[in-house]
Amino acid sequence: MKKITTDSLREALKKITFPDLENQNLIQLDIISSLSCDESGKVLCVLEVPPMNHHAFSQAQKAAEKVLKGVKGVTEVTVVLTGSQKKIDASKLIPSKKELKKKINLEYVKHVIAVGSGKGGVGKSMVAVNLAATLSTMGYKVGILDADIHGPSLPMMLGTSEKPESVDGKTIIPIESHGMKYMSIGLLASKNQPLIWRGPMVQSAIFHMLKDVRWATKEDLLDYLIMDLPPGTGDIHMTVCQSAPLSGAIVVSTPQDLSLIDARRAYGMFSKLNIDVLGLVENMNVFECPHCKGQTHIFGSEGVQKESKESKLPFLGSLPLDISLRESADKGTPFVLKHPGGTIAQAFKEIAKNMEEQISYVEARLKSNTDTALI
Ligand SMILES: Nc1ncnc2c1ncn2[C@@H]1O[C@H](COP(=O)(O)OP(=O)(O)OP(=O)(O)O)[C@@H](O)[C@H]1O
Ligand SMILES: [Mg+2]
Repeated sequence: MKKITTDSLREALKKITFPDLENQNLIQLDIISSLSCDESGKVLCVLEVPPMNHHAFSQAQKAAEKVLKGVKGVTEVTVVLTGSQKKIDASKLIPSKKELKKKINLEYVKHVIAVGSGKGGVGKSMVAVNLAATLSTMGYKVGILDADIHGPSLPMMLGTSEKPESVDGKTIIPIESHGMKYMSIGLLASKNQPLIWRGPMVQSAIFHMLKDVRWATKEDLLDYLIMDLPPGTGDIHMTVCQSAPLSGAIVVSTPQDLSLIDARRAYGMFSKLNIDVLGLVENMNVFECPHCKGQTHIFGSEGVQKESKESKLPFLGSLPLDISLRESADKGTPFVLKHPGGTIAQAFKEIAKNMEEQISYVEARLKSNTDTALI
């Protein structure tokens, strides 16, 4: 059998190009650390990619496998991604929002907003639900996606576990709840079923809930899709940041140092992945005793406001620790819909308005960047 040369393999790999990286091909990117073929036609190709870019390069990995298999005489192909400290501009690897929207069937969704925190139990889901409901009372069409595939909270907080249906066997119709569209992995699994996900499954579950759910159509646009993220800065967050066309992210924290440490990690992660942080929300800032009306700062006071000044990230608003917020969440009705005239509903309106303002700044900045690029 004719020996397969690495030149012929490299020639095949040149077919893989990266439109987001000035159309360079895989060879020009200079990320192949090893390429070999043994006598029986088994090919091993090692791509050295910074760990934070692994998601973005998984497509390239598959494409490399395909083109190498097409080389005459090749019997088996293994392409692996390994970590590297090489600098590849992550921002360039992430397709533009417009491209992402098209790819993920969210062309008719105006803004996708992620709500994260870093730390667990600080009120992300409560904020996501009430912010979504507030936007809906402001006249917007709103969807809410529970991206917490390990511990979905929305079926409880929105008070419905109805199974979503599909009309064509491919697309899922999101559930309508309190005037909003919503989807959670909790709707597809039985209540006490353990949700165990391995690496690649995480990505496909998130993709599935973004791409295969009919969030919006040309005739039925969505203004906001709010994504409730799980705690931490792991695989799910990376997938969301790199596959969802985010207009920005909101970080929720209590004023406590312990929570702020993780909030810093969260906004650091968003910035690193080129996601605009629209601002910080302070939750559980103050507790007012329902009996004596005395105020206690159980988790400290104004820590998030100070953090916002130091980090120069916008401060979107503050929420108290209030028993009726918890009760409402447990009973499945967004608090702001139950008590629309109260101070908490007002605080959520402030948060929503501040968020809108930040989105408009981001849009203006992106527009001016595009205008400059066109000159
Ligand atoms: N300001 C608040 N006042 C009273 N209860 C609150 C407040 N914020 C959140 N809670 C309650 O605290 C609990 C945790 O909140 P939530 O589930 O929103 O946190 P989370 O950050 O989403 O948690 P996880 O990291 O597990 O997803 C819930 O029972 C919620 O109703
Ligand atoms: Mg949650």
